[in-house]
Amino acid sequence: MPDLAILDKAVEALMQCHQAQGSLVVLTGAGVSKESGIPTFRDAQTGLWANYKAEDLATREGFLSNPAMVWDWYDFRRNSVWQAEPNPAHHALVDLESLFPAFTLITQNIDNLHQRAGSQCVLELHGNIFRYKCLERNHPVSLDLLADSEASPPHCPVCNAWVRPDVVWFGEMLPPKVLDRAFDAAAHATLMLIVGTSGVVHPAASLPQLAKEAGATVIEINPELSALTPFVVDYFLQGPAAMVLPELQSALTRRLVALEGSHG
Ligand code: OAD
Repeated sequence: MPDLAILDKAVEALMQCHQAQGSLVVLTGAGVSKESGIPTFRDAQTGLWANYKAEDLATREGFLSNPAMVWDWYDFRRNSVWQAEPNPAHHALVDLESLFPAFTLITQNIDNLHQRAGSQCVLELHGNIFRYKCLERNHPVSLDLLADSEASPPHCPVCNAWVRPDVVWFGEMLPPKVLDRAFDAAAHATLMLIVGTSGVVHPAASLPQLAKEAGATVIEINPELSALTPFVVDYFLQGPAAMVLPELQSALTRRLVALEGSHG
């Protein structure tokens, strides 16, 4: 459970950001989807995939050496994500977005749950498991074409290359325009809120440092310390995102209502 004194300080920092009409930038990782039943990267793979490491499957080499298996793995993950629901942490971020005109949500997740919850301004650093493209020339491929295809993986209707998920594989570049927008948001953040990331994968993990150097206050929500906690975090709120984020958001709302009331 988060330390209540630290929670108060975090709410105060959010209040100051709000009153100054500052920019709230949120960085999320797999931990924000944990209470939706989606395992994090640090969780072991289970079931059919228990003997495989994500690091071996989520690579171009892994796909080229066994396209059907990697395609099936993403099929399995897409179906389990599709059956999952956004959790209170996702919904609390939607509420926060409505309170801060200058709001950017940067996510490392590919599960589309922020968008399903209703978040508007979402920067997907690592792509989206519900988007597809061809392996050779990045031709976008629609989901409904895939539904009709027997092949596994299907073939691009334009150039006949294999179709792959539009996600960033290990060793691949992140989408440059998205990354530029994320760096720009971090460099102009008044406050950065980090939720559910181990903070070990770059360049995402360098965004909090960038915000800190720009003078931002940094709040982190995680049941455990991350690689970022000792270096850039001002207020560490220990606990699961689905519990702590709604608590933070509702405490801020109460403060804002009280402020409104005092203005008469
Ligand atoms: P990780 O699996 O590395 O870390 C998950 C983080 O979530 C850990 O710090 C956990 O302590 C925390 N966590 C677990 N349960 C939580 C909960 N209920 N509430 C809040 N936090 C919780 O996942 P990421 O940091 O997102 O990259 O990993 C970043 C990237 O590593 C992924 O995007 C992926 C992987 O390589 C690519 O696929 C390119």
